[in-house]
Amino acid sequence: MKVIETVAEFREAYPQAPKPLGLVPTMGFLHAGHMALVERARADCATVAASIFVNPTQFGPGEDFSTYPRSTEADLEKLEAGGVDLVFAPPADEMYPEGFATAVDVGAIGCRLEGERRPGHFNGVATVVAKLLAIVRPDRAYFGQKDAQQCLVIKRMNADLNLGAEIVVVPTVREPDGLALSSRNAYLTPDERRAAPLIYQSLLVAKRLCEEGVTDAMEVKRQMRMLLEKSPLVRLEYVSVAHADTLEELDLLASPALVSLAARIGRARLIDNLTL
Ligand code: PAF
Repeated sequence: MKVIETVAEFREAYPQAPKPLGLVPTMGFLHAGHMALVERARADCATVAASIFVNPTQFGPGEDFSTYPRSTEADLEKLEAGGVDLVFAPPADEMYPEGFATAVDVGAIGCRLEGERRPGHFNGVATVVAKLLAIVRPDRAYFGQKDAQQCLVIKRMNADLNLGAEIVVVPTVREPDGLALSSRNAYLTPDERRAAPLIYQSLLVAKRLCEEGVTDAMEVKRQMRMLLEKSPLVRLEYVSVAHADTLEELDLLASPALVSLAARIGRARLIDNLTL
């Protein structure tokens, strides 16, 4: 496994890398969810590249950029064990040198749900992923369904800018009690960790109601909220029932719908979703 820190070095390594090349972009602190992306890329591609870069432009003021968990040595061991060939781990000034001025704005899809609560977040994501796709030039890039809106934003940006990668979305990996794997789960205290599965359980409530034929989105959201309110540790930010492609809020449950939510539990802000 070759670890590369500069764009110039990556450009040099690219011609020798057997194709197709798959890219797994990450911010490090890798868990089994990331490794599922690596595994899928390994099964699909002759060369697997992963990036590790905690991207400052996708964190808002007061968010956890400076405290975001970092574990580069352990990450490199995991990537090597997962069969990764190339790791791109640039320092911040390699990605954002002095004078850097361009930003990718994906429009409406980046302004709803998470974009409404985290203004500018998806411009930061789209900008860094556009740069990674331009540097690594993968045939396929792999992202987790847990970040459903991020996947839509990246697909939009990749299509609009003709970046040419196939965007592959990999199912969410969960703990046995349903909690979606996330680097931010590390912030949970034992009590908070015990409350956290309510997030997935509330999505299962939506799934059950849908299967029972309930079509009123307000009723679905009401029952999800009722369950989440069972723990005082869960501070709900939003519950949404939206069209799975446009993220426009729905009054009536219709296929394909994305049920999603964000909640704060202690220091962690957690998101999850289910497509119905
Ligand atoms: O999902 C993430 O880890 C990040 O948002 C990504 C896609 C690596 C961009 O920084």
